[in-house]
Amino acid sequence: MPSQAELITEIERLKAAKNAVILAHNYERPEIQDIADYLGDSLGLSRQAAATKADMIVFCGVHFMAETASIIAQDKTVLIPDENAGCSLAESITYDQLVAWKAEHPGATVVAYVNTSAAIKSECDYCVTSSNAVAVINAIPESEEILFLPDRFLGTYVEMITGRKLHIWPGACHVHEKIGDMNLADKQAEHPDAEVLIHPECGCSTACMMKQAFNGDCKEAHVQSTSGMLTHARESAADEFVVATETGILHRMRKENPGKTFYAANENSVCEYMKMTTLTNLRDALAHDQYEVRVDPEMAKAARRPIDRMLAIG
Ligand code: 13P
Ligand code: SF4
Repeated sequence: MPSQAELITEIERLKAAKNAVILAHNYERPEIQDIADYLGDSLGLSRQAAATKADMIVFCGVHFMAETASIIAQDKTVLIPDENAGCSLAESITYDQLVAWKAEHPGATVVAYVNTSAAIKSECDYCVTSSNAVAVINAIPESEEILFLPDRFLGTYVEMITGRKLHIWPGACHVHEKIGDMNLADKQAEHPDAEVLIHPECGCSTACMMKQAFNGDCKEAHVQSTSGMLTHARESAADEFVVATETGILHRMRKENPGKTFYAANENSVCEYMKMTTLTNLRDALAHDQYEVRVDPEMAKAARRPIDRMLAIG
């Protein structure tokens, strides 16, 4: 069994030999975050995939993210170290369900969270990520009817911020939906001086926004994408933070802010799919060019349109 140091040396050697770039999401294991060339949220990772000069992208994240990279960078080889790294949220709507939903609302504008398959994207008008969903909805003319999928908590958050009425698909992420109002209230009681950072996919995001709107409670809470949370933690004068999202983000928060303290809103918020990438299967991915994620060119062309429209907005 090679040591961690040996694996890292081998990964660096193979990466240089293959002119590869390692992109990793903020929820990955600490050792994967530390070896990545770029670490970020879904929007940042898509932008990196579009901009890279590398021949090969090794995506340390989940399948829809690697698929998005393949859609954007059709001339590159895109690899995912574990083929089983899926996403419960992306699974919460099927292609047939979307086609039927569209048929019920002819002419509606369809907005898909980036946590969807290439087939779903190919049927949509715009993609959004958690960091630009509000900007994208605001860019769509008021007169248009909007179908928003698949995350109901992100959809409700966007509705509350923009004041627009959306048709929202009732999907959810199995990790974030369990971070509920009571979880958050308990942690706020334990750490009354802490600021609260909430990912909009969380079950508690809706209740918190309602409290802010109607009784001024929950006012130290900020609803943000993972990179938005990281920026906030760096820039805030607060010393303590309760963080409502997948716990992988705590590694980077603590590393970037050694003088501050971060508490998980729920310590069990672990995405098993994000933890499937290890140094061993990352080394194997580079050594054997596995597992390639390639979106068929026709599908990629159709799925690229909503992504490009998103990237053009912000
Ligand atoms: P971000 O885009 O905020 O990083 O969230 C994406 C996500 O849910 C990945 O699991
Ligand atoms: Fe999907 Fe949820 Fe895991 Fe993110 S945390 S990859 S939304 S299952």
